[in-house]
Amino acid sequence: MKIFKNIVILTGAGISAESGLSTFRSENGLWNNHRVEDVATIEAFKRNPAYVHDFYNDLKKEILQAKPNAAHLAITQFQKEYPAEIAVITQNVDLLHEKAGNSNVYHIHGQIDQAVCLNCGQTVGASGDIDTETVCPNCGVIGMMKPNIVFFGENLLCMDKVDELLRRCDLFLSVGTSGVVFPAAAFVQTAKYHGAATYEFNMEPTSNNFYFDHHIMGPAGTTLPAFVEEMIRSLKSGD
Ligand code: OAD
Repeated sequence: MKIFKNIVILTGAGISAESGLSTFRSENGLWNNHRVEDVATIEAFKRNPAYVHDFYNDLKKEILQAKPNAAHLAITQFQKEYPAEIAVITQNVDLLHEKAGNSNVYHIHGQIDQAVCLNCGQTVGASGDIDTETVCPNCGVIGMMKPNIVFFGENLLCMDKVDELLRRCDLFLSVGTSGVVFPAAAFVQTAKYHGAATYEFNMEPTSNNFYFDHHIMGPAGTTLPAFVEEMIRSLKSGD
């Protein structure tokens, strides 16, 4: 197998499914029980911040208890044993990549253990509840803290770095994402346009199917460790 030098792994909710966290669009998924318009748009937050805070405070409790699974751990092994720069671009607001020991993780949709002040713009740690009375530890203003989750209608985070990574990667892996939310859904096109080999790991074909050179079907907790083992084995054996 070719030896790759710059690898990007894009992850979505499916990589955390085997850790017990719901995906968004599955039956009984997060969006099944809540309307996106009520909990995941900046308009919803401005209209009814208390409702949105309750949703993310509950989600935070669930997420903070979750443990990484074999797919997250396989990325750690990959980063340790394969001699490439390997970056993780995640749409997930959970912290399972970090808990598994992954490095170079970019949270483009934010992370659940942070809040951002809409008055001063400061991002702060927030592992406990936040609500409409929370005081910004930076500017002292009350009631302007928002979960550091990128809502529909807001810009993604770390995009300059992400763009650079996509342009220079020679291997692009997409793991557990339905590929319906842009711009992340278009990352594969950018990587492919710049010459990367592209692999999709999912339980089923996605609407983004067309852009991937290879499809590896099945649970990521099984397929990703097998892929990583094979990459490391082929490196050692020179196949
Ligand atoms: P989705 O719920 O849209 O898609 C999850 C994908 O994971 C589906 O394609 C499943 O088939 C797949 N899947 C489920 N279990 C899996 C497993 N064990 N192994 C491999 N694949 C599995 O979640 P995302 O694509 O992450 O944004 O959704 C993208 C964004 O939509 C989210 O980041 C969220 C939401 O709006 C924000 O919260 C800002």
